[in-house]
Amino acid sequence: RDGLAMKDRQGDTMTQKTILRALAGERLPVPPIWMMRQAGRYLPEYRATRAQAGDFLSLCYNPELAAEVTLQPIRRYGFDAAILFADILLLPQALGADVWFVTGEGPRLSTITEAAGVAALKPADAVHEKLSPVYETLRILRRELPSETTLIGFAGAPWTVATYMVAGRGTPDQAPAHAFKAADRVAFSALIDKIADATVEYLSAQVEAGAEVIKLFDSWAGSLKGQDFDDFALAPAKKIIAALKARHPGLPIIAFPREAGPRYVGFAKATGADCVALDQFTDASWAAAEVQKDGCVQGNLDPRLLIEGGPRLVSETKRIVETFSQGPHIFNLGHGITPEADPENVHRMIEAIRG
Ligand code: CP3
Repeated sequence: RDGLAMKDRQGDTMTQKTILRALAGERLPVPPIWMMRQAGRYLPEYRATRAQAGDFLSLCYNPELAAEVTLQPIRRYGFDAAILFADILLLPQALGADVWFVTGEGPRLSTITEAAGVAALKPADAVHEKLSPVYETLRILRRELPSETTLIGFAGAPWTVATYMVAGRGTPDQAPAHAFKAADRVAFSALIDKIADATVEYLSAQVEAGAEVIKLFDSWAGSLKGQDFDDFALAPAKKIIAALKARHPGLPIIAFPREAGPRYVGFAKATGADCVALDQFTDASWAAAEVQKDGCVQGNLDPRLLIEGGPRLVSETKRIVETFSQGPHIFNLGHGITPEADPENVHRMIEAIRG
C-alpha cells in the first residue's frame, strides 16, 4: 500500500484510478490487479461472514454483509478493484425463476424448456424490485472503498445465464440449452432477448448506484460455435454494451467470453467492449499480438497456481506481466480463485507483480 500511496502523491496517478487508465488504453509500468472470486471461500474471513449470513443467497441480498465480504480482499491485499459481491443467478430469480444453492454442489433453478416458460417471465424492468438490495450494496461500497480502488459491477451474459435457466443447474457441456436452441430457435432467441433487456436494466441501475466499470461474464461462451457464437455471444453483448453506453457515456466495459479461443480476435471491436478478459487456456503471446492490438486485455493466470504456489507461481505471473507489458493490461486470473487456494500464495503473486 505504501508504494501505491507514494505514487499517488507524486502526481497524476492520483487523478485517475489505475484500472480506469488501463481500460482507457494506457500502458502502465505495473499492471493494476484484481482477481475473479476474490471474495470467496479461500478466505477465512469470508467463511465467517457467510456463516453469519446463513446461506449464500442471504449473503447476496444482505447489503451490509455483502459489502463487508467485498471489502475483505481489498483490506487483505490492496487490490486495485473491488467486484460487487453478488451472483449472476440473481437476475433469473428477479425474472421469476426459483433459485437456490445446494451446499457443496452448486446452484439449482426451476427449468425453462419451451416457449411458454419464456413467456411467463416477468418484464425486464420488473427486476429492480428483487435486486434493490444489490444496488444498496454498491452505495455502501462507494462510501467505504479507498479512493484509489475501482468498483466493478457485473452480470452474466445472456447465453451463460440461459444455460442455467434451461438446465436448472450447471452442466459440463450446456447440452440442455443447446437442445432448446435446436428445437425452437425462435423461443430460445426470445429467452436471450429477455435476459439481455433485463441485464441492461440491472447493469444500468448498478452504474447509478456507484459501479464504475461493468463486467459481463460469458463463462460458457466457448461452447457456442460458428453462427451460434455470432447470434448468442457476440450479438447480445453488442446490444447490452450499446444500450449501457448510450445511457452512461464513457462507461468502461469488460467482456469475458471464456474459452472463446480464436473468437477472442476482434471480439472487443465487434461488441464495443473496452477490454476482453482472457481465460488461462489462451496463449498470452498469441493474445498480445492478436487481441491486445485492439485495446486492453485482462488475465490470465491459471487459478490452480494459487493452490500449487512455489516457483512456478512466481515465474508464470512474471511471464504474463512481461508478455502483456507492451500494451494496456489488467492482471487477473483466467477464471475464479478456488476454495482450495492458499491466501499466502495471493501475496506471493502480488509481490511478483508489484515487486
Ligand atoms: O468475483 C467475485 O468475488 C464477485 C462475486 C461473484 C460470485 N459469483 C460469488 C459466488 C461473481 C462475479 C460470480 C459470477 C458467477 N456466478 C459466474 C460467472 C463467473 C464464473 O465463475 O464462471 C457463474 C457461472 C456463477 C454461478 C455460480 N455461483 C455457480 C456455478 C456457483 C457454484 C460454484 C461455486 O464456486 O461454488 C456459484 C456460487 C458462488 N458465487 C460462490 C461465490 C463466492 C460460492 C458460494 C458459497 O459461498 O458457497
